[in-house]
Amino acid sequence: MSRTDFAGRVVWITGASSGIGEALAQAFSRAGAQLILSGRRADELSRVAAACCGPTPFVLALDLSRPQEFAPAVLQVQRHFGRLDVLVNNAGIGQRCLAQDTLPAVERAIMEVNYFGPVGLTKAALPLLLAGGSGSVVVVSSVMAYVGTPMRSAYAASKHALHGWFDSLREEVYPAGLHVCLVCPGYVRTNLSENALTATGAAHARPSDSPLRGVAPEQCTGAILRAITRRRDEILVGGPEIWAVRLKRFAPRLWAWALRRAVARGRF
Ligand SMILES: NC(=O)c1ccc[n+]([C@@H]2O[C@H](COP(=O)([O-])OP(=O)(O)OC[C@H]3O[C@@H](n4cnc5c(N)ncnc54)[C@H](OP(=O)(O)O)[C@@H]3O)[C@@H](O)[C@H]2O)c1
Repeated sequence: MSRTDFAGRVVWITGASSGIGEALAQAFSRAGAQLILSGRRADELSRVAAACCGPTPFVLALDLSRPQEFAPAVLQVQRHFGRLDVLVNNAGIGQRCLAQDTLPAVERAIMEVNYFGPVGLTKAALPLLLAGGSGSVVVVSSVMAYVGTPMRSAYAASKHALHGWFDSLREEVYPAGLHVCLVCPGYVRTNLSENALTATGAAHARPSDSPLRGVAPEQCTGAILRAITRRRDEILVGGPEIWAVRLKRFAPRLWAWALRRAVARGRF
């Protein structure tokens, strides 16, 4: 990936205060992009911004569960930069509780941040993105968009839903030159498990209990930047667990056997 691909381009990253979003901020800043960093925690966004090289990032605190904030946020981007080249819908929230125990309010909260948030923000930003004629909308989805595993029912549902909406959008905006890319990571070493919601909505507050701890967030960023440059529709990134997608599709009974074996061994 050459530096010139993103030099001077305006890139908006949600969930930029930690994990994959933070690593993406560093990668895009090294590539010379002008950044907008969003998330709820302005102090953490400022910390990430201070560690970026290149142009000083624009910190724009935004809660994805508050759709009324989307249009004013886009207006701020328009006023500050006059354009938007790449929107990375990365923010997300995990789940660690059985389907039967999960309160409906918790299921809705997960859908709000993981599905309605990216959908609403993308719709609000579309006129600005389309005006450029060659931009990209990136969505950090998950391998869980293709499989369901225990304790992650609403999370898996939210990621499945993203694919239906953004696959449709891709075909609608293709003639106008806008690119839509779905990124499906496997396990990545971030705070997703600590921040995941339990049945009542409290944070799980425990690091990943999977022995497959996953790749470092920085290992995802190169693949994501390359996917934008090459205008890929969808990519899988991570360790061997990403093969779950193909196993489920081409050998579903083998996948079910492997999953149940992993569950019995305490891997979920
Ligand atoms: N880690 C993995 O193994 C893995 C695997 C597959 C997919 N993913 C996906 O990767 C994305 C990034 O997650 P991560 O692993 O980097 O976890 P993370 O470190 O917990 O980061 C999640 C980010 O989302 C933001 N966020 C959460 N709720 C928000 C809200 N209501 N409004 C705005 N921002 C909100 C958080 O910022 P604030 O707290 O500052 O709001 C934070 O920056 C997620 O979409 C996740 O589903 C992760």
